[in-house]
Amino acid sequence: MREDIERIFFSEEEINEKVKELGSIISAEFRDKNPLLIGVLKGSFVFMAHLLMKIDIPCEVDFMAVSSYGDGTISTGAVKITEDLSHDIENRHVIVVEDILDSGITLNYLTHYLENRKPASITICTLLDKPSRRKTPVKADLIGFECPDVFIVGYGLDYAERYRNLPFIGALKPEIYS
Ligand code: IMP
Ligand code: MG
Repeated sequence: MREDIERIFFSEEEINEKVKELGSIISAEFRDKNPLLIGVLKGSFVFMAHLLMKIDIPCEVDFMAVSSYGDGTISTGAVKITEDLSHDIENRHVIVVEDILDSGITLNYLTHYLENRKPASITICTLLDKPSRRKTPVKADLIGFECPDVFIVGYGLDYAERYRNLPFIGALKPEIYS
């Protein structure tokens, strides 16, 4: 598996450090607000688990499953909600937890979808951001790392459902997906 990785962008230690920082920011900003963290499956489940343990205020967790990619590396552009929330979010402070913000298509769709349910606030927290790839305007409120326009895997991120279990984030060798 590791032999398929061309280059490591963010090591396990760097990621842990960053996740700790994000957890502290959320803990400070949402004290007494009992925020609801909404993980966007599947990619965000690793980030969600680690972030959650770095948040030291009362909070709740929910998940949504969204698919827009199929098995390829390029978004099909069509977003489908395959699993909806189990919480009512009216008047709740929601924090959307994403693995990576790429074209913005997923989060743009999701933000509108959530807005219609009248939450008190929506905060977008993404571990990774590829700003150069944006097709629809979306701005994350909390960003772990900016990354270049290369397809990356690990720490929950997959290529055709594989590599999610790598503890670091790295670029796949192009011959793997071309
Ligand atoms: P967007 O709708 O194009 O912003 O894509 C968001 C989703 O695409 C993320 O939640 C990921 O699941 C997936 N994605 C985007 N870029 C990558 C990548 O470099 N590696 C793995 N998955 C990616
Ligand atoms: Mg994916």
